[in-house]
Amino acid sequence: MYLTREQEALLAGEGGEALRLAMEILVALGEVYGAERLIPIESAHISGTSYTSCGDAGIDLLSRLASQGARLKVPSTLNPVAIPLNNWRKLGFPEQLASKQLAILDLYAELGAAGAVTCRPYLAGNLPAFGSHVAWAESSAVVYANSLLGARTNMEGGVAALASAMLGLTPLYGLHLAENRVPTELVKVDVELSSDLDFSLLGYFVGEALGGGIPFIQGLPSWAGVEELKSMGASMATSGSMAMFHAPPHTPEAQAYSVEALASTSVGRAELSRVLERLSCSGGLKVDCVALGCPHLSLEELRRVASLLEGFKVAEGVKLWLFTSEAVACLARQAGYLRVVEAAGGEVLVGGCVVHAPLKELGVEVLVTNSAKAAHYCASIHGVEVCLAPLHECLRAAEVGRWPP
Ligand code: F3S
Repeated sequence: MYLTREQEALLAGEGGEALRLAMEILVALGEVYGAERLIPIESAHISGTSYTSCGDAGIDLLSRLASQGARLKVPSTLNPVAIPLNNWRKLGFPEQLASKQLAILDLYAELGAAGAVTCRPYLAGNLPAFGSHVAWAESSAVVYANSLLGARTNMEGGVAALASAMLGLTPLYGLHLAENRVPTELVKVDVELSSDLDFSLLGYFVGEALGGGIPFIQGLPSWAGVEELKSMGASMATSGSMAMFHAPPHTPEAQAYSVEALASTSVGRAELSRVLERLSCSGGLKVDCVALGCPHLSLEELRRVASLLEGFKVAEGVKLWLFTSEAVACLARQAGYLRVVEAAGGEVLVGGCVVHAPLKELGVEVLVTNSAKAAHYCASIHGVEVCLAPLHECLRAAEVGRWPP
């Protein structure tokens, strides 16, 4: 891979050990993928920030980088972590986990991370323009950036995104190149999508059926908004390795392609029902927790939740957890949505992630959610029973405390 003289010098350690290491990571990545050179990026989004994923080794690495004087060169946001930053003690998150997690966030702050801790960085100040190059980790955010914003990023790992953040560079390969953003398979949606959950199930089906590539999805309703498409993309990247989709008229690059010659797959109600059957538990269960916000809730989603929660009380012994970023929570408080949530007995968890939370230690055996991604990971990582339902049914389950509501 071609390196400028300045980049060669960094690789030789002339900029210090931290930048040498970062350069070594990007050069190795670039060589594996046949990148011709490094290109500048406008922002980074770093995953692997939860103590449950990076562990003590992550703390050691960050401490070493900080003590070597490393600083992030481009605006960089962080993926959600194992505890909610606003109310972990009140909600009973373990002290030891919290102290490790807070140490990680302190180290990122020392490196100069932008502060936002969320899987929807584009709602918290990290909003790349169409065509701009970024280095983002977190699969749901990567799909959103490529598909809906038209920004360009590969699906970075946490360490590669950190190295990119330190150098302001990424190797030029994959989705940074126009020729790799071409649709690879046509998906025909032959079902009337009627709820938030339908989009999540559709994404999960497409990810599983295609496995990878860039689907071109035909037949989405014109009313589908960013919330529905965000859910669909997050699920797609859960069951498959998709980092991008096209879906006219919703995605900005779709009109550039003709898709007649592509192999196609059809999705009907039967396919969605089969995914639901597989991901969701059967009935007759006492609900411990209803978790919404995987990916993190937007202001619009909190508005929808608040409007459904008017005059509502969460059942005794049930946790209603709403995951979002601090920026969105702040706006939701100003808009009055959080007052409604709190009056109903719900909790807003800022910067946390349902998948990284120690669910069993917190007494959660049965979880209800509207996210296929949360269902997939909470069942496989924590072994909890997961019930998957549209938003209004999730809230109804919180009210009655049992499944089905
Ligand atoms: Fe976000 Fe955690 Fe879900 S990072 S997408 S809330 S798994």
